[in-house]
Amino acid sequence: MISTSVTRLLGIDLPIIQGGMSWASSCSALPLAVSRAGGLGVVAAGPMRIADLTRTLDEMEAGTDRPWAVNLPLYRRGADEVIDLLLQRRPPVLIAAQGGTQRYLDRFRDVGTTCLHVVASTEHARKAAAAGVDGLIVVGAEAGGHPPPAMVTTQVLVRAVVTAVPGIPVIASGGVADGAGLAAMIALGADAAQFGTRFLASHEATVHPNYKAAVLAATVDGTRAVGRELGVTRALANEFTARMTELEESNADLDVRRKAFQSSTLRDAALYGDVTWGKAEAGQSAGLVHSVLPAAEIVERIVAEYIGARERLCPPR
Ligand SMILES: Cc1cc2nc3c(=O)[nH]c(=O)nc-3n(C[C@H](O)[C@H](O)[C@H](O)COP(=O)(O)O)c2cc1C
Repeated sequence: MISTSVTRLLGIDLPIIQGGMSWASSCSALPLAVSRAGGLGVVAAGPMRIADLTRTLDEMEAGTDRPWAVNLPLYRRGADEVIDLLLQRRPPVLIAAQGGTQRYLDRFRDVGTTCLHVVASTEHARKAAAAGVDGLIVVGAEAGGHPPPAMVTTQVLVRAVVTAVPGIPVIASGGVADGAGLAAMIALGADAAQFGTRFLASHEATVHPNYKAAVLAATVDGTRAVGRELGVTRALANEFTARMTELEESNADLDVRRKAFQSSTLRDAALYGDVTWGKAEAGQSAGLVHSVLPAAEIVERIVAEYIGARERLCPPR
């Protein structure tokens, strides 16, 4: 066990949170494996139909007594219907992303769910903390998916948030792929780390083998953040990101950029293995990931690496 304010808040053994990843963790396999291993498994409700989410919640409840979470991007179509379902089902933890707290916070607190809010700036961290969320997930520029539009790195943003909003449990996210990264985030003042790309390359992540192979093949400079004014997205560099970069550098009209942006989807990469034109979302940490492993083994390795990093900081006498 590694005890921090986040593990105590969530009732988990390890300060290891599996990033909610649309498609990759939009089912029970990966979240169950991570929660059973002592971290926090997270079901990504973003792309899920109500029937699929209902079945997955049944599987999570039946599959483990340990805490787990549902990640809900508040901008998704039908978010209110998902909120109604989750209020009935009372998942142990709710992680809300991409929106304000007013749509959900009071009602989930009433049913006893712990509420974490994803933030990508100090200002949003202050607002979410003032609204009364239980903890913050702070996402920096290295992250796969949606990094902060201002592109402040995880190292700087975590430090800024823990200084500006003292006392609230903080989970650092973006660019953390191993136990050394976890130790670094704890040294900065965070209380846990969230791992996305590392768990994308797990046996249980439900994405096409082409996608996992492309993550393994990527180097640390193998991703691009594209989609200025459209919802900046970090994905593996491919023909789609090259086209977006070309349009952005030539200051093409927003409509032209939007059309190109919308012609590529994460679904195409995840379900059909289109890593040439699909949005193969991944973080810079793809360059630190060299193997596809069972999620439980990833958790074990992170713990061993964390202990090694701690010993480097404080060598045994
Ligand atoms: C394929 C993929 C899908 C993602 N989907 C979501 C999502 O649905 N909701 C969310 O809050 N974050 C999402 N993220 C962001 C992750 O939860 C996490 O913050 C990010 O991956 C951390 O950076 P890392 O990849 O360097 O670990 C996604 C990331 C990836 C790679």
